[in-house]
Amino acid sequence: MSILFEPTRIGRLEIRNRFIRSATYYGLADVAGRVGDESVELMRTLSSNEVGLIVTGYAFVSQTGRCFADMNGIDRDDHIPGYRRMTDAVHACGGHIAMQIAHGGAAATQLRRDGKEPLVVSLTDRQRERGEGVREMSNEDIESIVADFGRAAGRVEEAGFDAVQIHGAHGYLVSQFLSSARNQRSDRWGGSTEKRMRFVLEVARSIRQHVSDDFPLTIKLGCRDYLDESDGLTIGEGTRVAAALEREGVCFIEVSHGDTGRAFRKLSGGKKTAPVREAYLLPDAKAVRGSTSVALGLVGGLRSLPVMEALVASGTVDCVSLSRPLIREPDLVKRWREGETKSAECVSCWGCLKTDGDGRSSIHCRQPAPVPAPL
Ligand SMILES: Cc1cc2nc3c(=O)[nH]c(=O)nc-3n(C[C@H](O)[C@H](O)[C@H](O)COP(=O)(O)O)c2cc1C
Ligand code: SF4
Repeated sequence: MSILFEPTRIGRLEIRNRFIRSATYYGLADVAGRVGDESVELMRTLSSNEVGLIVTGYAFVSQTGRCFADMNGIDRDDHIPGYRRMTDAVHACGGHIAMQIAHGGAAATQLRRDGKEPLVVSLTDRQRERGEGVREMSNEDIESIVADFGRAAGRVEEAGFDAVQIHGAHGYLVSQFLSSARNQRSDRWGGSTEKRMRFVLEVARSIRQHVSDDFPLTIKLGCRDYLDESDGLTIGEGTRVAAALEREGVCFIEVSHGDTGRAFRKLSGGKKTAPVREAYLLPDAKAVRGSTSVALGLVGGLRSLPVMEALVASGTVDCVSLSRPLIREPDLVKRWREGETKSAECVSCWGCLKTDGDGRSSIHCRQPAPVPAPL
């Protein structure tokens, strides 16, 4: 049997195979961020199709962190019953589920649609001059968001999730703090690498105070901004952040990139979307492997069994994460386990996400169904 179908551990949790459904926003929540039947059924489908660990789409920890009108939320106790139905459905099919918790910071674009000002880590000179409708966070704002992450994680455990994942990637708030290109604060939250990583470490500590001692704390970490070495988070800094998070009790790191637009342009030779090649963040996973001993996952362009098997068999990572392939083919993992060997059909065109002017999205594969093989 392929190593991809052997169980593995994420802290106290044993997952049935090495496949993770990486966090994927589906635009299915109501105006208050509550999940309903469609979200529950989506997770049930993934679990019944043998995904080892499902990570929910990102959920905002405070109203100021909201990116879309139909984004999941976890800022209130009345979110818990909907999520309880979701975790029960996943567990009934033998799977496990983590919730990804997030704050959008400057990327909390739903605030702008609602006529409010998103919070930024620091204002650029240009934003100051133009008065761009964003507000620099005060120390109180930052401390209150740190506390929001902790309270949200408490709700995650109460709702029956198996783990919590901090969204520390893709240019959202944690990434914004880590990046010297975005964080130009001169107080205790900005400046040196140590000061820029203070926010994510405080978030991890706050979560620890609100969950049981051995509740698995994980992060999707943008380990690098892919800017020039002199600007933005470098991989050398990313590996130091990973090591510091391990000391705070993080038991699993899913390696991803920081600032999305810049990373994609750099990695795909100027295009706006992620590169089509497989495992496009492999060098970053190798670097993180060298600096921590926590369980590791890798996301980004994984499509074929030989590539994923080599990643796990070589010990580079413990798990492989898929997002878009499971939008197109939610039953992929099960088919692979049953012996199918063909690669995921997803062609990485990035056509699945479409959002309207009100901040509501429709997510499904927009590529035509494959032409059936001739009889
Ligand atoms: C529709 C859509 C929604 C996504 N939502 C999230 C999200 O909520 N949180 C997150 O960390 N990444 C999100 N991502 C990024 C994916 O998790 C993943 O990192 C990226 O698509 C690369 O992996 P892939 O090549 O397997 O798709 C999303 C991607 C897509 C296509
Ligand atoms: S729309 Fe494109 S990126 Fe999205 S699942 Fe389909 S093939 Fe993959």
